[in-house]
Amino acid sequence: MIHEILKMGDPRLLRVAKPVEDIRDPALKTIIADMFETMHAAKGVGLAAPQIGVDLRLMIFGFEASPRYPDEPPLPATTLINPWLERLTDETEEGWEGCLSVPGMRGLVPRASYIRYGGVLEDGGVLEREVQGFHARVFQHEFDHLNGVLYPQRITDMTQFGFIEALFRDSQLAALEAD
Ligand code: NI
Repeated sequence: MIHEILKMGDPRLLRVAKPVEDIRDPALKTIIADMFETMHAAKGVGLAAPQIGVDLRLMIFGFEASPRYPDEPPLPATTLINPWLERLTDETEEGWEGCLSVPGMRGLVPRASYIRYGGVLEDGGVLEREVQGFHARVFQHEFDHLNGVLYPQRITDMTQFGFIEALFRDSQLAALEAD
């Protein structure tokens, strides 16, 4: 089932989400399936449970090719329950981010360049990865959602925050949010 995606300003996006207590709860499988359906319908590359009003530490991400991020390499479809994050170095890099909860906009956001992350998988297994670049950015963005943080709060230069149609006037991105 496709859910409504909450928009910035909704207080449910600002909560620190609760850990998933029972990995085997059948309701969890439904939520995860709904999150993928909702993310795909919105052409997103990631979605966190709080974005559909579910107060749990649960995120999904992954794409083959994204119209929202046409220059980025594919990411494996991943579901993470109760994820954790560790920075591997102090290095940061800036990159453009959008969010399904902040439609039509992009901002230049500093993120850790190199991270290790992990979490519990849907089948109860444990995943751990060391990643960099856009993969690291996507994880950090979704992880922030679990702590009630939206990407505009991470922007250090607010002149680099605006509407896609204005920021990327000459790019194929300009037409993106019109559909
Ligand atoms: Ni987001």
